[in-house]
Amino acid sequence: MLSKKQARAFFLGGTVVFFLIFLGLSWHSISTEIPEQTNEENLTDAVVRGKKLFDSNNCVGCHTIMGEGAYYAPELTKVIDRKGEAYVKVVLTTKEPWAPRGRKMVAYGFTDEEANDITAFLTWVGNMDLNGFPAEPTIKR
Ligand code: HEC
Repeated sequence: MLSKKQARAFFLGGTVVFFLIFLGLSWHSISTEIPEQTNEENLTDAVVRGKKLFDSNNCVGCHTIMGEGAYYAPELTKVIDRKGEAYVKVVLTTKEPWAPRGRKMVAYGFTDEEANDITAFLTWVGNMDLNGFPAEPTIKR
């Protein structure tokens, strides 16, 4: 049996050791893992402008990206892989609501530059290492 004093030392020692391990792992994630998994070196000005357009136009009001957002419209993390850049640009620049399957995508009518910036952002997101997200669907179509 530990004495009260030993138990206190054990508790405090354990807390300090594991807190230091926690800080070390957090530092490792922030300084090494995240820049590597997000390809930080590819974060161009176009990607940043695209992200701002993505936010200010409330795309997550209908879509999800990296799993976050609303479930009205398709997941956009890998949309460039799935549909190709040209398709995405048409969806973003068209003046007609885009609704091949009934639900309407807003007709933003973005300019070519704006559409390029948003596709740059979506390409950057699509190239992130997201540990396998989004998973391949298991259902047959
Ligand atoms: C009012 C809801 C709504 C908002 C807001 C919205 N979308 Fe959409 N979007 C849709 C719907 C619904 C579709 C699916 C249309 C279809 O193909 O049937 C879609 C389709 C798309 C597609 C094609 C995806 C695919 O897999 O076919 C892209 C790319 C896209 N949206 C990008 C955006 C971007 C970027 C924004 C913000 C600037 C945005 N959307 C805002 C509803 C929305």
